[in-house]
Amino acid sequence: MKPASILDFRDAARRRLPHFLFEYLDGGSYAEQTLRANIEALSQINLRQRVLRDVSAIDTSATLFGKALNLPLVLAPVGLSGMYARRGEVQAARAAEKAGAGFTLSTVSVCPIKEVRGAVQEPFWFQLYMVRDRTFMKDLLRRARDAGCSALVFTVDLPVPGKRYRDARSGLGAGNTLRRAFQIARRPDWAWDVGLQGGPHTLGNLTQVLGDKSGLEDFMGWIGANFDPSVTWADLDFIRAEWSGTLIIKGILDVEDARAAADFGADGIVVSNHGGRQLDGARATASVLPEIKSALGDRMTILADGGVRSGIDVLRMLALGADGVLIGRAFAYALAAGGEAGVTQALTILADELRAAMALTGVTRLDQIDQSVLA
Ligand code: GLV
Repeated sequence: MKPASILDFRDAARRRLPHFLFEYLDGGSYAEQTLRANIEALSQINLRQRVLRDVSAIDTSATLFGKALNLPLVLAPVGLSGMYARRGEVQAARAAEKAGAGFTLSTVSVCPIKEVRGAVQEPFWFQLYMVRDRTFMKDLLRRARDAGCSALVFTVDLPVPGKRYRDARSGLGAGNTLRRAFQIARRPDWAWDVGLQGGPHTLGNLTQVLGDKSGLEDFMGWIGANFDPSVTWADLDFIRAEWSGTLIIKGILDVEDARAAADFGADGIVVSNHGGRQLDGARATASVLPEIKSALGDRMTILADGGVRSGIDVLRMLALGADGVLIGRAFAYALAAGGEAGVTQALTILADELRAAMALTGVTRLDQIDQSVLA
């Protein structure tokens, strides 16, 4: 059956991926309250149904940081995407480029920056975590610069990893090789396509520090041991010194932090709680977004993610104050289910749903989507 919605792709991903990988992608931290809240808060945003307004020509084109896109969508930095599909970051980046959406490569990707850059025409965004080894960071930033990455997305909501109960239960991480092998054996299509042919499964940007150890074994361990929890706003000067291009701070969920990001001179923020994977009990992004928008006005570009599972959700985020929307699981499910073609189809679904939502709320351009479409 051809997936008709993003949630169909989620079902397909569950059938395709070894259990521990699906759980890692699908899950959130602790009791997963924030993960659920992101989705529920969006679903509770009511829209105004408007009629008889000539919606024959709908235009979804957007401009983010000077770059024209066909859609107000950017693929979020999803770590380990190359475990969901063979060389998954390359496949996702290609699909994004074809659809005219943005793409962000995670620090903890399987495919290194260079491999992805070689597979697409246009430069993409690179996401960065602050790691203890600043020499290594400088080198990583140099690689992003050399690849022409058009923006740096600096993630600030992971000074320590949130506990993911599902990962402990499913066997992700060191010491569960046998359990994972058993789960892989139950997914022969994945085992053949990704497991056997999709290597190397190392974290491509981190081979200098991790060597050729499998990303899976060492991923969370490496995060815990090497992410720098001492980071403050002052350390952003280090980033600025190394990166003169567009700088986006990802993981802002508080008005005061949003103001600090603007005062610092960031070009943009992503209002985000890391997809409900960090502080459980944190508010849904859709709830916080209007406060941040009214505090910042047009001082900087505001992006948002968290719980977006349809084009209607995209319209809701835009109406709540976002200039653009990041999608994480929404594309990663499709990547797992169908590789590049799956992501292309997911983006088509989101675009069609966004166009329909615009028509039915009586708007034809993204700049008309504001609080006036909310009921
Ligand atoms: C890493 O960023 C994760 O959310 O697992």
